[in-house]
Amino acid sequence: MSTSSTQVVIIGAGPSGLLLGALLHKAGIDHVIVERQSPDYVLGRIRAGILEQVTVDLLHEAGVGTGVTQGGTVHHSIELVFKNTRHPIEVTQLTGGKVVTAYGQTEVTKDLMDQRTRSGLSTVYEARDVSLHDFDSLLPQVRYLKDGVSHVLNCEFIAGCDGFHGVARASVPKNAITEFEKVYPFGWLGVLADVPPVSTHAIVYANSDRGFALCSMRSMTRSRYYVQCPLSDKVEDWSDQRFWDEIRRRLDPEMAERMVIGASIEKSIAPLRSFVAEPMRFGRLFLAGDAAHIVPPTGAKGLNLAASDVKYLSSAFIEFFKDKSAAGIDHYSQHALARIWRAERFSWWLTSLMHRFPDSEGFGQKMQEAELDYLVNSHALSTSLAENYVGLPLDFGQH
Ligand code: APR
Ligand code: PHB
Repeated sequence: MSTSSTQVVIIGAGPSGLLLGALLHKAGIDHVIVERQSPDYVLGRIRAGILEQVTVDLLHEAGVGTGVTQGGTVHHSIELVFKNTRHPIEVTQLTGGKVVTAYGQTEVTKDLMDQRTRSGLSTVYEARDVSLHDFDSLLPQVRYLKDGVSHVLNCEFIAGCDGFHGVARASVPKNAITEFEKVYPFGWLGVLADVPPVSTHAIVYANSDRGFALCSMRSMTRSRYYVQCPLSDKVEDWSDQRFWDEIRRRLDPEMAERMVIGASIEKSIAPLRSFVAEPMRFGRLFLAGDAAHIVPPTGAKGLNLAASDVKYLSSAFIEFFKDKSAAGIDHYSQHALARIWRAERFSWWLTSLMHRFPDSEGFGQKMQEAELDYLVNSHALSTSLAENYVGLPLDFGQH
């Protein structure tokens, strides 16, 4: 058995854990990241790709901004499609100059991993049987198995950045945590393909009789597209040809005609879920990112919320270690949850507006149509969409 000590043990090397590690390292706080999977597995996961300015700023602060500066595409608008007609929403104009940047989560993760390697920071990959102990005391512990050897890490804090299925939230006594959840009655089939995106200046969100569709991008030569599908569908049910035929039927005719198709390089089906666990602090254990909350991807908020949690949490740890003040860690949960619930509301709203629901024939359908019509004709509602889409400020509502 090997025993060692550090200030913070971070569980999970997804974007939350890696970004927290980068910010702590910059502040001179010692930490170890313990990850269940291999680096290749982590990089193989394809996820969303729209960054708020708050997230881009944080990547710069963490010293990994070069990738997004060089490889990201700045967007000033989004496009809504309904009744086969395109309606631009000029988000930059509506928010006094704010933008979002198209840059994949896989790329963010890779930039952070490369920086860790350059800085000589190690991450324990393929750690088995990770377990958390004594986080209700001042001396918490994380244990794991690596290559058959047991390791014990003594620390001052544990950061649970281990995603929705992780061990951190699951280690909290049931009576100390409240979970709120909504599961949607459909999924998204996502396809990644090396074809030029049908729209490079704006993400396209389409509401059609056949269900939702989304056109996004990873670069000028790589597209990421989605269609709403039944949860019972399997990836094998969807040949590339079926996917291309279906997505084109859900767009406006001009865009459908223009869409370049090609062989898929990744195809997967993901369920849609809204989920929040409260609180996000249990003694010396803090949850961040997907470990504490999930949003349906419609608002592109998952990665951005992970980043804002990490901003609040890293500031709290820095305040604790440098200024000897517990104010930040005491407020972390409340602070983070205020922003999370706003993003939950926005993601739920946009999901409800844009998808076909099995039970929304008739009245529900008419309400959706009336709201879309109101949205594209109302400066007030367009502004509300825009200010949420670009991301609310980190200190929103705290004055
Ligand atoms: N022990 C160690 N690591 C674990 C364990 C465990 N028991 N369980 C899970 N992990 C790891 C996972 O393998 C994964 O690499 O924790 C990491 C969590 O990463 P993510 O799921 O990507 O979560 P997070 O870093 O919070 O990123 C949030 O990911 O799902 C998207 O939309 C979401 O963009 C958002 C982002
Ligand atoms: C993506 O690029 O994968 C993406 C973009 C916007 C969304 C969801 C996903 O709302």
